[in-house]
Amino acid sequence: MATGTLPRFNHPVSSPIIVALDLPSAAAALDLARRVAPYVGAFKVGKELFVSEGPELVRQLRQTGASVFLDLKFHDIPNTVAKAVAAAVRLDVQMLTVHCSGGTAMMKAAETAAQETAAGLGRPAPLVLGVTVLTSMDTAALAELGGETDITRQVERLARLAAASGLRGLVCSPLEITPLRAILPVSMQLVTPGIRTGAEKSDDQKRTLGPAEAMSAGANWLVVGRPIYAAADPIDAARKMHEAARSGL
Ligand code: C5P
Repeated sequence: MATGTLPRFNHPVSSPIIVALDLPSAAAALDLARRVAPYVGAFKVGKELFVSEGPELVRQLRQTGASVFLDLKFHDIPNTVAKAVAAAVRLDVQMLTVHCSGGTAMMKAAETAAQETAAGLGRPAPLVLGVTVLTSMDTAALAELGGETDITRQVERLARLAAASGLRGLVCSPLEITPLRAILPVSMQLVTPGIRTGAEKSDDQKRTLGPAEAMSAGANWLVVGRPIYAAADPIDAARKMHEAARSGL
């Protein structure tokens, strides 16, 4: 099917599954989105797809009725991040990411830009999600940067800073859900990648959790890439992931 001519999808079930569209082209991304939409709450567009296909792909996804998570992990001076967030709100995305290490002023500027731009357009503000410590960082990598060298303590420190800055959500690894739930306001939305059912081939995710376990630990949203887009039957994989996630509620 040519892009731009997709039907509007119906979302008969509300789903906590966010499918990461880590695919090389808009055509492949839109085709997958069309197929798995009934089991999916949102689609994540990351740096590769956005840099290759641009905002037009986001518009095409939105035209299908799907919610979009724009995962560009903004990290810059507050004024620049605020303008990027405002542009993302005009693009009508429902979630976006910023690095907590940009600091309080940057996170406040991002949240304010999301709220004010959305209010001006008469639509709900997207969730601005804070990214704490990249899961690719180990203790040695953190030590090289100076300051705190304990990853858990640094994640908790940045998570508290995000909450105090007014962010309403965080991205966290599956193993961080329980410790973060213990220190964060209950309203904080936790978005968790690294989800595996056990049926998939092993890949580079080292710290994983099943969908039901992640939901019962307190995740609000599960980001799933390869277990769905690389499955022999992505529709069946999405349906099973959705059913398993709901069983953990
Ligand atoms: O294919 P897989 O399910 O591992 O995809 C997970 C998605 O979540 C990818 O888009 C990956 O970049 C993203 N992600 C992650 N771990 C983080 C942050 C984001 O896997 N800590």
